[in-house]
Amino acid sequence: MRSPRDFFRPLALGAPEPLRDIPVRPSRMIHFFDPSNPRMAEKAPDIARKVDILLGNMEDAVAIDNKEAAREGFIKIARDNDFGDTQLWTRINSLDSPWFLDDVTRIVTEVGEKVDVIMLPKVQGAWDIHYADQLIAQLEARAGLSKPIQLHCILETALGVANVEEIANASPRIQGMSLGPADLAASRRMKTTRIGGGHPGYLVRNDPDPENPEGPRGTHQQDLWHYTIGRMVDACVAVGALPFYGPFGAIDDPLACEDQFRNTFLMGCVGAWSLHPSQIAIAKNVFSPPADEVVWAKRVLEALPDGSGAVMVDGKMQDDASWKQCKVMVDLAKLIASKDPEYKALYGF
Ligand code: GLV
Ligand code: MG
Repeated sequence: MRSPRDFFRPLALGAPEPLRDIPVRPSRMIHFFDPSNPRMAEKAPDIARKVDILLGNMEDAVAIDNKEAAREGFIKIARDNDFGDTQLWTRINSLDSPWFLDDVTRIVTEVGEKVDVIMLPKVQGAWDIHYADQLIAQLEARAGLSKPIQLHCILETALGVANVEEIANASPRIQGMSLGPADLAASRRMKTTRIGGGHPGYLVRNDPDPENPEGPRGTHQQDLWHYTIGRMVDACVAVGALPFYGPFGAIDDPLACEDQFRNTFLMGCVGAWSLHPSQIAIAKNVFSPPADEVVWAKRVLEALPDGSGAVMVDGKMQDDASWKQCKVMVDLAKLIASKDPEYKALYGF
């Protein structure tokens, strides 16, 4: 077993010191683009101004024939642009693919200073992280990087979900996780063909009405992802990492997308993927706390200035625990306001 004292030591001579804390920055949407697509690549600097995180995708949705073009395109975009306070991420190909080694080697050594986070798909267990962790440390040392690259895992295999806590604990490089509902559904042999969201067959039905036993019985669709999101949020937050919802494939159903995003916001996620420019505004709206909640939370903080004791605010009991809930809301609002003038004005900071 490795000594806990070594956890924050670099895994290669000359690699930067691992981070003690995960940087918390506005992360409402991870906007995906395909760097092999010249039209998308051209628009990337412009889109970067509208999002919290811009991600160059190399994995699924990039055709096999375009894998190398995606890598070259991403390296060029990273090299030629300064994205300011927008984070730059990339999703590389999975560890068992023929592209992983070149993806990670080229990106870390050629544009490692520009990249905040590498997203690793199809993570199965701690062994995947240990391999990537040491390899990245060697490449960071070779490139002489000053700050460590962080790792974000996609939770999208049954084995990965079974091992979610050990994955979260595997390295100080773990920045967070996203749910990958499409691969996860396939891996679990779930019988949905949708990318995220609910399913009309996954429901509970009201009991028969005793007055009218043959009458119609209402049904309530349930959230297929609730269990996995709950496990992911706890595993991430327990180590100071950030949980995200992943993709919502029905671009033509913005209302259901908003509902799916909001369920995960309420459960603790900080953001979601946007696969299409129309989903940027949805994520921004959902993952920025509602202004009326922020106003309420500020009132509770003012009513309990040192965060202890008990008071009534508008007939509702407030104590140390509800003060902490309100502080979560106000701290997030302040974080968003620090980047987004529109929300700064809305929250009155
Ligand atoms: C995302 O990668 C997914 O498989 O849903
Ligand atoms: Mg996937």
